[in-house]
Amino acid sequence: MRILITGGAGCLGSNLIEYWLPRGHEILAIDNFVTGKREVVPTVDGLQVCEGTIEDESFVEACFSTFKPEVVIHAAASYKDPNDWKTDAAVNVVGSGVIVRASERHQVKRLINFQTALCYGRPSKLPIPINHPVAPFTSYGISKTAGEQYVLLADVPVVSLRLANITGPRLAIGPIPTFYKRLKAGQGCFCSDSQRDFLDMQDFLEFMDLVIVDGAPTGIFNVSTGESNSIKEIFDLVAKHHGIPAPEVPIVPVGDDDVPAVVLDSSHTEAVFGWKPKHGFESIITRQLRWYDEYGVNDVYSHLKPAAE
Ligand SMILES: NC(=O)c1ccc[n+]([C@@H]2O[C@H](COP(=O)([O-])OP(=O)(O)OC[C@H]3O[C@@H](n4cnc5c(N)ncnc54)[C@H](O)[C@@H]3O)[C@@H](O)[C@H]2O)c1
Repeated sequence: MRILITGGAGCLGSNLIEYWLPRGHEILAIDNFVTGKREVVPTVDGLQVCEGTIEDESFVEACFSTFKPEVVIHAAASYKDPNDWKTDAAVNVVGSGVIVRASERHQVKRLINFQTALCYGRPSKLPIPINHPVAPFTSYGISKTAGEQYVLLADVPVVSLRLANITGPRLAIGPIPTFYKRLKAGQGCFCSDSQRDFLDMQDFLEFMDLVIVDGAPTGIFNVSTGESNSIKEIFDLVAKHHGIPAPEVPIVPVGDDDVPAVVLDSSHTEAVFGWKPKHGFESIITRQLRWYDEYGVNDVYSHLKPAAE
């Protein structure tokens, strides 16, 4: 299958490339390397890399017309600076629209979008059902939600996956790399008083095999284990991993731009796709920490405003 991946040098994009190339798929990755790293999309048979921005219609058109993708995975997103709403809107809204129009012109068989659970805002029900209203309130959430709306209008088969926090190679956002890096360096940490859900990369990749199949279900889907765990539970596992016995850590209320609990209900997805994640919370965190032991943690990004020191 010919698969075009926007944001191919990012965490999810690069893991999909590593997973799909050996399975015989041809891939074209589009990336402007704002958060993704060049070295994770090496020159290898079956992989083409096009450097540029998804906001640029003629660049995107050239990529589509030379590669002729059958499937488009839309993973490029802006979130690096929570105050930079212009870039978030340009990439997540306008860029998504450009990808939608190109997918329509080239009549791709499937357009698959990745969405943040922040589209639900502060949910009124947990775990969050797929029919829960969207009510984003951060630049990242608002722009990704507007982008998703354009994707859902596309005149090709569309899937939008509202994802839990996916852990795996090169994860560079959120509490796991932050705690790993800071505790290893002997630095202090704090835990926000919040609950999150996670999904292991292997479970995500196996799910993606089902999603790209021609004629597979379309629509919006939550993708998660549905398990709810506190940030403090992550902190404790990271401390244990580093051999630090039961350290004290302040628990702080969530910031104005954060949500106390985000846990997605994937029961509809499991029923429709006949899929179930294999890894639970402890296995997910432990596998991530072992990966950092082997490869380290580089820059850590956040879509949240930095907490006051
Ligand atoms: N990783 C997760 O757990 C998770 C959870 C929920 C939703 N998502 C969504 O999945 C997608 C991928 O997430 P990720 O974790 O891989 O993020 P990432 O930052 O690692 O990857 C995004 C990639 O997009 C590229 N990019 C940014 N702006 C671009 C532009 N204008 N043109 C071309 N490329 C551009 C970046 O350089 C980066 O390589 C995002 O849309 C994100 O909202 C991810």
